[in-house]
Amino acid sequence: MTLGASILPKQGLGAGVKMSDDTFRQTREFIYQQTGIYFQDNKKYLLEGRLGKRLQVLGLGSFEEYLQLIKYGTRRNEEMKFFYDAITINETFFFRNEPQFEAFERTLVPAIMSGRNGGARHKLRVWSAASSSGEEAHTIAMIYLERLRPKYPLLDLEVVGTDINTSVLETARKGVYRDYSIRNMPKYYLEKYFTAEDGRFAVHDDVRRYVRFDHLNLYDQARMRQMGSFDIIFCCNVLIYFDTPSKIQVVSNLYDSLNRGGYLFIGYAESLHGISTAFKLENFPKTVAYKKE
Ligand SMILES: C[S@@+](CC[C@H](N)C(=O)[O-])C[C@H]1O[C@@H](n2cnc3c(N)ncnc32)[C@H](O)[C@@H]1O
Repeated sequence: MTLGASILPKQGLGAGVKMSDDTFRQTREFIYQQTGIYFQDNKKYLLEGRLGKRLQVLGLGSFEEYLQLIKYGTRRNEEMKFFYDAITINETFFFRNEPQFEAFERTLVPAIMSGRNGGARHKLRVWSAASSSGEEAHTIAMIYLERLRPKYPLLDLEVVGTDINTSVLETARKGVYRDYSIRNMPKYYLEKYFTAEDGRFAVHDDVRRYVRFDHLNLYDQARMRQMGSFDIIFCCNVLIYFDTPSKIQVVSNLYDSLNRGGYLFIGYAESLHGISTAFKLENFPKTVAYKKE
């Protein structure tokens, strides 16, 4: 039985408990060592609120006890899942950054295909790194079905979505979404690739069959090296949570996971300035991509 299922909130304990500055610094350091995510001083309230809920569930009276549990407790491994779920921000939606998907479809895939032997089969491998609940990964599969497969009948697709948060991965694997996720989706795609059920939207198996989801911490170098090689990596809206040294480490591992001629996309508010000089920056309408030459 998992911790979450076995322990019900214990009234009183944990509620309204304050985190001392010292415990905040120790917790922040622990998070940083495990994930590369760095909580600035002004984010103490966020940790207090989110981890405070774990205190309640576990019936703990202080953040110090909680820190002991996740660092040294016998149930440490079980709790780490809930810990990662509590500290991550998982905002995402379908067709989030449309100019990226346009560059992907109109320029990047044609460029990759032109470098291949014309008549040969090719499996395009795309990684949605920090996929959250899978909206980006499923968007890529829909674009493939709608725009790429008709043009390149010998082109196959594999999208791998990874995230550190196991709850969002469960949603990704189910492929059932709420209104929020579909708010930017063209109606055409919604009608063609989803079934509406009780106010939820279930993505069709025809789309899901190209996508799989795995648990992966981008800060775990050993696991990163096992990811294999990709034609295109989307690693969007996650580098903002890292400090410079962890961005350098993660981006260097992403570089190693790209095929020559492959491309990396990052979030539109993110940049590789001061992080990596290994890529060639390419400009597209309203977006950029980083090429491994
Ligand atoms: C804001 S969401 C971005 C989702 C999607 N890429 C997008 O742009 O819409 C950030 C995701 O990064 C994940 N994340 C944060 N730190 C991570 C790490 N060290 N390893 C893997 N995923 C991480 C979070 O769990 C969260 O789902």
